[in-house]
Amino acid sequence: MRSSLKYDTSYLEGHVSDKDISGVMPRVEEAHRLLSGDESPFKGYLGWMDLPETVGDPLLKDIERTAGRFRDTADAVIIVGIGGSYLGARAAIETLAPDAVGKSVFFAGHNLCARYICGLLEKLEGRQVAVNVISKSGTTTETAVAFRFIDEFLKKKYGRGNYSDRVVCTTDEKKGALRAIADEKGYKSFVIPGDVGGRFSVLTPVGLFPISCAGIDIKELVEGAGSQRSLSLKGSAEDDISSRYAAVRNVLYGKGKRIEILSSFDVRLHYLDEWWKQLFGESEGKGGKSLFPASCDFSTDLHSMGQLIQEGERNLFETFLVSEEVSGKCPVPRSEDDPDGLNYLAGRQLEEVNITAYRATAEAHFEGGVPNSTIFFGERSPFTLGQLFYFFERAVAVSACLFGVDPFDQPGVEAYKKKMFKLLGKPGA
Ligand code: PA5
Repeated sequence: MRSSLKYDTSYLEGHVSDKDISGVMPRVEEAHRLLSGDESPFKGYLGWMDLPETVGDPLLKDIERTAGRFRDTADAVIIVGIGGSYLGARAAIETLAPDAVGKSVFFAGHNLCARYICGLLEKLEGRQVAVNVISKSGTTTETAVAFRFIDEFLKKKYGRGNYSDRVVCTTDEKKGALRAIADEKGYKSFVIPGDVGGRFSVLTPVGLFPISCAGIDIKELVEGAGSQRSLSLKGSAEDDISSRYAAVRNVLYGKGKRIEILSSFDVRLHYLDEWWKQLFGESEGKGGKSLFPASCDFSTDLHSMGQLIQEGERNLFETFLVSEEVSGKCPVPRSEDDPDGLNYLAGRQLEEVNITAYRATAEAHFEGGVPNSTIFFGERSPFTLGQLFYFFERAVAVSACLFGVDPFDQPGVEAYKKKMFKLLGKPGA
């Protein structure tokens, strides 16, 4: 089996003891029971757990074929979606194919900003365009509005009825406006399984099709998730690192830590942090309880948030996400006269310097009273990203059970929508 994730808890010393963890373990075992079997109260929402096994070769091949067709016929693929119908794909593409973003892959539908959509349409002038519109409900306003703009753009560019091969819809099998549009216009569509919620859907066509459009190996991604699934299911709750991470978070919450900061030292992981924030925020933030999921891009944010983390209110903990990959491609240059005194770094890989910044930060923050742990992953690849996706999905499911909340609903998201529809005068609102 290829390299697994490592969960290093050295800097939790004095904050989370073995006894604390053993104390939570019976509840973790109970969470595992709640999350499996026919008696599960969450039956009907657990499809994500088996996706690495159930997604299947025929679907993966269909996705790859269709993505290949998009790449052959378009030099700009627009991915339209929001929340769980956006962040997983964006996280994977920004992590593994960052150069594609803004060149061959564009995102829309994740905001209502006029400047953004109009600016995007301007950028598309003169380009060959294809679109993947993604919405499980098929009725999300941000997505639908962006798709309307893009649909009108396509109509003008290719002529009414002449661009059906340039649109792929990813939506529910039967319900919703997007399903009706796909069926009526004869657009190719991919189905979002009914038992997989938005924020758990990156390993369905919701994530896999856009990821494949960016040229990333989706089979390897699914394999990575599968390997993490096997590891999670093999061992006891104590051996399963997702469960240990969930247990640690719960112990820290019990000790007054109310904010978790996920931090990485690689700009390419920014959107993975964003995906993580939605996964944890939307799954756990209910019933008057929550750990606030925040994120930092280090070392950039050490020069803005570093002070607060080091010496502000001691109500937070950190989880670092660190790749130990040193590509050897970027040594610090030597300067003949050394005016900045940096020759002591000359010849050393910048990645090595960056990892040293991580080590220094973890130690300094720990000494400043911020418990922290690190998830190490080896190389940056579809395989390890698949592992990380599965690791966090399982962790949040267990963690929400420990908080005593339903990991799979999001009733609070409706509140702003109701008010907005009323204010906009939507019929029936
Ligand atoms: O996780 C979720 O369920 C949400 O974030 C949804 O993914 C998001 O609101 C978009 O919904 P839809 O896919 O129905 O357009």
